[in-house]
Amino acid sequence: MTADELKIAVARAALPHVVPGELLGVGTGSTANHFIDLLAAEKIAVAGAIASSEASAARLRSHGIPVLSLDEAIASGRRIPVYVDGADEIDPGLNLIKGGGGALTREKIVAAASDCFVCIADHSKCVEVLGRFPLPIEVIPMALGLVSRELTRMGGIPKLREGFVTDNGNLILDVAGLKITDPAAFETELDHLTGTVTNGLFARRRADVALVSSPDGVRTLHA
Ligand code: A5P
Repeated sequence: MTADELKIAVARAALPHVVPGELLGVGTGSTANHFIDLLAAEKIAVAGAIASSEASAARLRSHGIPVLSLDEAIASGRRIPVYVDGADEIDPGLNLIKGGGGALTREKIVAAASDCFVCIADHSKCVEVLGRFPLPIEVIPMALGLVSRELTRMGGIPKLREGFVTDNGNLILDVAGLKITDPAAFETELDHLTGTVTNGLFARRRADVALVSSPDGVRTLHA
């Protein structure tokens, strides 16, 4: 199976988790794109989608799927039963690294607003300890030097994602050299760095369910 076929297989496996007629949180990235396309192809009607990026919102709209802002969703009084999104790394506790596509802040917000986070990924994303994939951190532009210095003091190797600006107008530092053995504690530590908006560690709001594809099929992992 090609890498793309593995992504399509796992995106398809997420369809039964969608609650027809309800709101749906939708993530960002190539696996999430397949999920959006399949959702439309299978004509699964949702009350509306809350997208974690402008790119996903545009893709949803291109299929005629209504997109709501999170504020509109909350004002409607409806719940968001499910959020479906990819990941860059998944550990055995379903803690994640996300943000390879730069949408980590909105992804964390939509995940936090949803009842169940269904993570979809191929088996190459599974690791024992998070940190092989450089951890994305969204940074307020004027704090770039300060945050880089602090991350270096913490043992990381931060690198500016050149030529990239987030949907929120900020910058991304990709931090290599980390071995994240206590993801929730490290997420909290990073949250305290002044000048950061969000870090790409999803530990306090990790995935509830992970669907992982391999040439042998799709496995379902629970937190
Ligand atoms: C987007 O910011 C990311 O969090 C993606 O969910 C993650 O990078 C996975 O993307 P792919 O599905 O393209 O691998």
